[in-house]
Amino acid sequence: MPSNGKSLLIVAHTPSPNTLAMAHALLEGAEDDAVDDVAVTLVSPLECDADMILKSDGLILFTTENFGYMAGRLKDLFERIYYPCLDDPRRNDAKPFALVIKAGLDGTGTEIAVTKITKGLNWRAAQETTLCKGDFNRTFIARCRELGLTIAASLDAGII
Ligand SMILES: Cc1cc2nc3c(=O)[nH]c(=O)nc-3n(C[C@H](O)[C@H](O)[C@H](O)COP(=O)(O)O)c2cc1C
Repeated sequence: MPSNGKSLLIVAHTPSPNTLAMAHALLEGAEDDAVDDVAVTLVSPLECDADMILKSDGLILFTTENFGYMAGRLKDLFERIYYPCLDDPRRNDAKPFALVIKAGLDGTGTEIAVTKITKGLNWRAAQETTLCKGDFNRTFIARCRELGLTIAASLDAGII
């Protein structure tokens, strides 16, 4: 089968065992055998840069909510990549992305902020935000696995 060479970048802030397990579930779903030809990379926001984002065909962003906003490390990433991405000829105006928020009780401020910034970057939400809040439970892992599979399979099929 010819390679369509798609790439999915998962940028995950994982300050705790629960969030690390969720990030691994995103990766595991995206690497499911049902997905033929998508190269998946999992990185922390600190490891990520504009070049990695520009080279990707799609993104999954995973952040905790801290003080009513996205984690500082994801904000730092947006600050570093915003203008370099907008100014680069490789810019993809409809880059599909999905957002996962792990919050104690809320998540609203994070979703509003990420939505504003990604709109400014001309990215396109491929899915409704996956908001995991309240006491940690196994459904969070299942939802992340499902989302990873959905985004990777959709890139593979060329439908996002
Ligand atoms: C400094 C700090 C600020 C936080 N602020 C919020 C907040 O504003 N809203 C919220 O829903 N959760 C908040 N939380 C909870 C985190 O989102 C939560 O600890 C994170 O999702 C990791 O969850 P875990 O303990 O299940 O691994 C905060 C946590 C920390 C450490």
